[in-house]
Amino acid sequence: MILSLKKMILLCLIFLSFFNAKAIEITHGPYLQKAGTNDLAILWHTNKKGFSYIEYGENKLDLISKASIHGQFDANNSFHKIILTDLKPDTKYQYRVLTVDILKMAPYRVIYGDTIKSEIFSFTTQNKVFETFSFCTVNDIHGRSDVLDSLLKVGVKTNPDFYFFNGDMINDFTDENQLFNGFLDVSVKRFASEKPFVYVRGNHETRGSESRNLGAFLHFDDGKYYRAFTHKGVNFIILDSGEDKEDSNKYYYGLADFDSYRSEQEKWLQAYVKTSEYVNAKYRIVLLHMPFISQEFYDGEYVTPSHGIQDSQKKWAPHLKDIDLLVAAHTHEYSFLKVGEDNNQFPILINDDESIVKVEITPKGLKFVVTGTKGNIIDQKFIPKK
Ligand SMILES: [Fe+2]
Repeated sequence: MILSLKKMILLCLIFLSFFNAKAIEITHGPYLQKAGTNDLAILWHTNKKGFSYIEYGENKLDLISKASIHGQFDANNSFHKIILTDLKPDTKYQYRVLTVDILKMAPYRVIYGDTIKSEIFSFTTQNKVFETFSFCTVNDIHGRSDVLDSLLKVGVKTNPDFYFFNGDMINDFTDENQLFNGFLDVSVKRFASEKPFVYVRGNHETRGSESRNLGAFLHFDDGKYYRAFTHKGVNFIILDSGEDKEDSNKYYYGLADFDSYRSEQEKWLQAYVKTSEYVNAKYRIVLLHMPFISQEFYDGEYVTPSHGIQDSQKKWAPHLKDIDLLVAAHTHEYSFLKVGEDNNQFPILINDDESIVKVEITPKGLKFVVTGTKGNIIDQKFIPKK
């Protein structure tokens, strides 16, 4: 039977659309993020919308985890975040991420396509009791993924339990590709599918049209950029110092509200430092982007620090008397302030924009090593336990 011209064209279109349909792919990730003490968030992106889950387990992939929100499994999206909860302590797990292509999602008909699977990765959960461990921190990368790559190459050799990204990892946030090109993809290449990172917001991440969407690409417990967690008996507090200038600065166009945000954090901090998690910790370490300093080096001279630095120091420093170390960034200049050197009640380490810091936490104290992009050691110090 001879097909009509109309039918032939239709068949050709179906044939072409079948072969032109893009296969589903993982475009970014998976990357791990700390989520509480015994939980881990796993995030990835695909080129098409799908339905995602994780297969994981100790010796084989015999467990499945999906993200359930308001009674529905999360689906029909290209960004995937699943939090593994109630993980056993001090245990090595294998995992892989899977996304099923959703070809059609109608009210009464869902058509699934192919399933993409990542390779199998592993991660190890923390011991609940104190034992020697280390973490690494980098900051002020401002999208220079080549610099970050060199620093992470140094970092992975030290085998830390996790990493901090201490702010200004990208420049003013106007396009999601800045996250991938600026730091995420290179982190995945070096470590992030098997070791978590913890993100601390810097002042540059508060700027730009996408700045309110940062939380959509990363994991922040309870959706808050300021938070705390305990790792192997050591307590970590993360504060969000916000913008550096006054809220009334003309370049914020009436959209900044950081003074009240820093007061909100002060209120939280006041209550948090009374909790047993904080009080009973073996050590207490604070991470924030803008340091507590009395002078700032700007345009070749020392000047009074910006309003954001002064406001956070005034509101937060009095509640942090018992901490063992504060790790900051922002100045693009390395310095270490011993107790009392700048009227500070605790040691302050400020990392520059081209170094990685490894902090090792031992029963006798904190040892840190600051290393440059070529593996050159810039400084190392030991802070004895109080
Ligand atoms: Fe900064």
